[in-house]
Amino acid sequence: MKWAGGKGRLTGHITALLPARIGTYYEPFLGSGAVFLALAETGRFERAVLSDTNVEVINLYRVLQRSVGALIEALAALPYSEEHYYQVRAQDPARLRPVDRAARLVYLNRTCFNGLYRENASGEFNVPFGRYVNPKICNPERLRAAARAFRGAQLHAADFAEGCAGATAGDAVYFDPPYAPVDGRRQSFRQYQAAGFDDSQQERLATLFRQLEQRCVHAVLSNSDTPRVRELYAGYELHPLQVGRPINRHAAGRGAVGELLIVNRRSARARRT
Ligand SMILES: C[S@@+](CC[C@H](N)C(=O)[O-])C[C@H]1O[C@@H](n2cnc3c(N)ncnc32)[C@H](O)[C@@H]1O
Repeated sequence: MKWAGGKGRLTGHITALLPARIGTYYEPFLGSGAVFLALAETGRFERAVLSDTNVEVINLYRVLQRSVGALIEALAALPYSEEHYYQVRAQDPARLRPVDRAARLVYLNRTCFNGLYRENASGEFNVPFGRYVNPKICNPERLRAAARAFRGAQLHAADFAEGCAGATAGDAVYFDPPYAPVDGRRQSFRQYQAAGFDDSQQERLATLFRQLEQRCVHAVLSNSDTPRVRELYAGYELHPLQVGRPINRHAAGRGAVGELLIVNRRSARARRT
C-alpha cells in the first residue's frame, strides 16, 4: 500500500542498522509494513510481532493471513469510478465482513488522492477521489507474496508501548512514529487518525526507547531531524538522512527533508565523555 511516511525507499538504510539475526522482530508503528516486508524477504527474524493503532491495516493483514483468495475476489469486483469511490468511502467499515473491510481499505488506498490515509475528527476516512489512468487495484501476485510474508506473524491493533511490551534480550524493534513537527510549524502530515501524536507521546516513546536499551533489546527509530528530536535522543547513535517527501499538500514541504535514524546504543562521543 501507499502510506504517508512509508519507508519503501529507505528499507536498505533501516535494515542495515538492525542485527543480522533477530529473535522476535517488533514493529509497533506498522503502517504499510515496508520494513517488515524487506526483513521477511531475507529471513532475518524467527518471529514477528506487528502492531499499529489503525484497526483497518491490522484487519487487512489478518485477512491476508487467513483468506487472501477471498480478498483477491472481492477486490477484483470493485470498479474504478468516482461514483463507486464515494459509495465505498461512505461505508461504515465496522459493519463490513473482515474481507470486505480489507478490500475497502486497499481499494481506497489505490484510488484516493495521493494514496494517503487520513481521518477527520470523527474518525472517518476523508480523502477525496484521485484521478489515475488504469490504477492497479487488484494485484494478485503481490497480495499472495504479502500473505506469505505475514504467515505466522502476530498482529495487534494496539498502542506502541503495548505492541512491544514482550521484547526481551536478543529481540529487535523498529519504531516509525508520526514525526515531530519541523521548525515549530504544524506537522506536515500527521492526520493518520483522529487521535494525533503530540510532544507528550514523543516523550513517552523516547522513555521506552531508553528502557529497551536497559533490557538489551536493540531498537532503531526514525524521526524528523529537529532540535527537539536531537534533545530527546541525546547521547544515542544518530544517522542523518536527506529524504524526498512526496505526500505533502504544501508544495514547499515536498522537497528534501532532514530525517534521523537513531539506534539505542551510545554514540562514540557519549561513550568518551
Ligand atoms: C510513519 S507511519 C509508519 C509507516 C510505516 N513504517 C510504513 O513503511 O508504511 C506511523 C504509523 O503509526 C501509527 N500510529 C499512530 N499513533 C500510534 C500509537 N500511539 N501507537 C501505535 N501506532 C500508532 C499510524 O497509524 C501510522 O500507521
